[in-house]
Amino acid sequence: RTVGVVLAGGVGQRVGLNTPKQLIKIAGKTIIEHTLAVFDGAPEIDEIIVLMTPGFTEEVERIVARNGFGKVSRILEGGASRPDTTWRALKALGAQECDVLLHDAVRPLLEPRIITECVEALKVYSAVDVAIPSSDTVVVAAPGPRGEIVRDIPERSGLRRGQTPQCFRLSVIREAYERAFADPDFDRRPPTDDCGVVLRYLPDVPIYIVPGSEHNMKVTHPVDVFIADKLFQLAAGTAPTHSRQALREAMEGRTMVVFGGS
Ligand code: CTP
Repeated sequence: RTVGVVLAGGVGQRVGLNTPKQLIKIAGKTIIEHTLAVFDGAPEIDEIIVLMTPGFTEEVERIVARNGFGKVSRILEGGASRPDTTWRALKALGAQECDVLLHDAVRPLLEPRIITECVEALKVYSAVDVAIPSSDTVVVAAPGPRGEIVRDIPERSGLRRGQTPQCFRLSVIREAYERAFADPDFDRRPPTDDCGVVLRYLPDVPIYIVPGSEHNMKVTHPVDVFIADKLFQLAAGTAPTHSRQALREAMEGRTMVVFGGS
């Protein structure tokens, strides 16, 4: 049995609107609606639970009813931090044994291919991450006398950018979180994602990497809303022809891509 867990408990401070960013409309639908549609339509997914920002669960109930997302079994309130939200999901799932795919609600461009590959990988591994190569060089910063200085530049070929879903045997992620919440140091240095919790508290568990996708972006800053909107248009074939042409030419290395002015 495979459960999709949609983590939507955040407020979207960096986007900076009055409503959580997962309720922003992109390409005619709210971000969370796009995300739920991918999970509801995935043949590998049996059940979906949603963890939503406190005060907004009714909004999700309306979205689920309107779209007829039949796999959504529960809509719960998220916690104060992302790990708290994950922990609430794990508690809600209880002691059953199943596989879980934990996904950021604000990655609405998740491709079904990634879900399929994650579920396949879970037949062999009990922990699976999704990641893509880093096109930027990543520098490690350290405090300097007048701001930050570069402490290290790790070799780029070995670096990946983590995405979601992050996928686990339920018993494995539950055990990692039980250890995490028993650690008095956890709150001071919380890992930024669920694989980070497994890596820190169950270091012997190998975490397999499924290749992610540049499209599977996280809507984090205001500019991401525009980029995601454009990507939906391209996927639907409704982007202005000159944008698609520009993108194709850019892909072939012939020009730089310049959006806008449709
Ligand atoms: N998330 C969550 N519960 C929280 C915080 C975050 O379920 N307490 C979810 C978000 O809703 C989002 C995902 O985790 O789908 C990725 O987090 P992020 O992009 O950091 O979202 P926010 O916390 O909403 O953004 P910000 O940090 O700008 O407030």
